Amino acid sequence: MVDYVVYGRGSFNQLDEIIAPHRKEGNPIVFLVDHFFEGKALVDRVPASGNDKVIFADVTYEPKTTYVDALANSLKEEFGKVSGVIGIGGGSTMDLAKAVSLMMNNPGSSADYQGWDLVKNPGLYKVGIPTLSGTGAEVSRTTVLTGPTKKLGMNSDFTPFSQIVLDPELAANVPHNQRFYTGMDCYIHCIESLEGTFLNEFSKSYGEKALELCQEVFLKKESWDNECDDKLMMASYAGGMSIAYSQVGVAHAVSYGLSYLLGTKHGIGNCIVMNHLDEYYPEGVAEFKRMVQKNGIDIPQGICKGLTDEQFDSMINVSLGMKPLWENALGKDWEKIMTRDKLRTLYEKL
Ligand SMILES: NC(=O)c1ccc[n+]([C@@H]2O[C@H](COP(=O)([O-])OP(=O)(O)OC[C@H]3O[C@@H](n4cnc5c(N)ncnc54)[C@H](O)[C@@H]3O)[C@@H](O)[C@H]2O)c1
Ligand SMILES: [Fe+2]
Repeated sequence: MVDYVVYGRGSFNQLDEIIAPHRKEGNPIVFLVDHFFEGKALVDRVPASGNDKVIFADVTYEPKTTYVDALANSLKEEFGKVSGVIGIGGGSTMDLAKAVSLMMNNPGSSADYQGWDLVKNPGLYKVGIPTLSGTGAEVSRTTVLTGPTKKLGMNSDFTPFSQIVLDPELAANVPHNQRFYTGMDCYIHCIESLEGTFLNEFSKSYGEKALELCQEVFLKKESWDNECDDKLMMASYAGGMSIAYSQVGVAHAVSYGLSYLLGTKHGIGNCIVMNHLDEYYPEGVAEFKRMVQKNGIDIPQGICKGLTDEQFDSMINVSLGMKPLWENALGKDWEKIMTRDKLRTLYEKL
């Protein structure tokens, strides 16, 4: 789990104080800031001093192992040692910050650690400051990376942040569609966790609360206001806590295939898949469709049109590789239920 959590509007202003005890003489703090904020007012509030470095994270594409390695190697070359890594941005920046922190203390490439419990050494002191709510990357024990052969996280006890700062003010100006797609990531985490076979009281307690918060902001509220940002940031946190002790399910397993082959982004990819999952999550999908309608969102259709057999196979391989997700969704006998043919039919519908 994350060791230390600060929540509240304006809490970003405490960042200097929060990191001060973790500064090691001569070793800089590295601020990895979502490139959206380049030239924006938030950058002037980043408490960089001395030889600290601000790096703008290019999140045009979701994080790749090659990008993580390049960032970590250039920091090692420039500074030798670094005091800590502070990630400020959406889920992609959260994951980059976690992965770079780990790679500063582990040999080889981040691709070597894609899987479960392969990371050998704790990373550097790392802080997560989300500016976009929904992924739960601020609390999770994984960092999702696209590598040479797979899209899979570095899942380990060393992966969670040392500290997170949850300041809903930072999410105030996220564009409507982006906010919805990333918010739906959280909603889908809740449905997949609550409807999964791995469910337990820990996951249920957080999942139910996160679900209620998502329903409030995406169905009950007439228009988006500060209270919605407050609630969605807590929903993201609780949704992340819920899957920490369970797993995600069908939407994520299928959407990983889309992302690997087509580069479809996580939030929108999950929505594209969720739209067709009535068979697995009937109530969740019906409510999801009400949310889509109420918020005036167009979910893309037909993104798998014209793909070759080879391409379908590649998505199916990535998807079926996510064994824990399928087992959570469909039970121990999942392989008998989700055959390659059945998954192909599902991909064709997208
Ligand atoms: N580690 C985990 O547990 C976990 C869980 C779910 C998803 N993920 C990962 O998270 C990533 C998706 O994250 P995301 O949906 O938050 O999107 P993102 O981080 O990819 O950002 C999406 C877009 O929003 C912009 N943005 C960020 N903050 C903004 C703000 N305040 N105002 C305006 N624009 C802003 C970014 O610049 C980017 O263009 C994927 O890479 C996915 O694999 C990780
Ligand atoms: Fe997700």
